Amino acid sequence: MIELDKVSYRWPDAETGLENVTLKVAPGDKLVILGANGCGKSTLLKLMNGLVFPDDGTLAWEGASLTREHLKDRDFARAFRRRCVLLFQHPEAMLFNPTVRDEIAYGPRQLGLPDAEARAARWAAELGLVPLLDKPPFLLSGGQKQKLALACLLALDPDLLLLDEPSASLDPATVGWLVDTLVHSERTVVVSTHNLSMAAELGNRCVVLGQRGEILFDGPVRMALSGVSLLEKAGLAHRHRHKHGGVEHVHTHVHDWESSR
Ligand SMILES: Nc1ncnc2c1ncn2[C@@H]1O[C@H](COP(=O)(O)OP(=O)(O)OP(=O)(O)O)[C@@H](O)[C@H]1O
Ligand SMILES: [Mg+2]
Repeated sequence: MIELDKVSYRWPDAETGLENVTLKVAPGDKLVILGANGCGKSTLLKLMNGLVFPDDGTLAWEGASLTREHLKDRDFARAFRRRCVLLFQHPEAMLFNPTVRDEIAYGPRQLGLPDAEARAARWAAELGLVPLLDKPPFLLSGGQKQKLALACLLALDPDLLLLDEPSASLDPATVGWLVDTLVHSERTVVVSTHNLSMAAELGNRCVVLGQRGEILFDGPVRMALSGVSLLEKAGLAHRHRHKHGGVEHVHTHVHDWESSR
């Protein structure tokens, strides 16, 4: 579905960036991206969504090259933007309509879909946003904004859903709903997260990025989560110091993931 071949990307003035990333996402994959703060997870998702373009290496969407030039082709861009969507880590950036209802219906309307209203009603109901339908999006709480941004994306019925830390502001019930909805759908999902429990429930595959933006691991989620040395190398496990009866004792500990204890 989407393919990165030896992709490197560094933002201007950044000390690190993505380094030589080769990755194929197949239809139906539920891929979890793990990695420490600043290792390049959001950058990787922006590359997959055609918002930034590699310094080196290539990207392809269903075999067609995904470049700035190719996205100037209106038909290609329109199809790509409907089928591949990104939930930003800070979704305020994508909300600008006068009401929640208009916000959800906006994408389907832009695409000329005849049932934009019905889609807005359906996804507002799924995400518990019905009481907020007439409110301006900027008055919503952080988590409500994230739910709204998610409703906007799901209303497009995308094939590839890119989610950047969706559980950061969502309450546990909504995270549970999201995991259930995605696990049982045909949709291809790539999700970056620090929530290892969600990773284990949602993902069937996991990519762990190292601190220099390189791929350290690509394989089954449970294998990644049980590899404490891998998680430590990626900066995801923490060395705790405890004193038991005056004797200092150090052990590696992965917060939010019980099997490592
Ligand atoms: N818009 C930007 N302009 C300049 N540098 C950026 C920009 N966005 C990210 N960077 C830099 O690129 C690197 C990768 O950042 P990125 O946001 O992809 O990390 P991340 O893995 O998503 O981190 P986090 O877990 O904190 O969300 C970092 O060094 C960051 O400082
Ligand atoms: Mg990020």
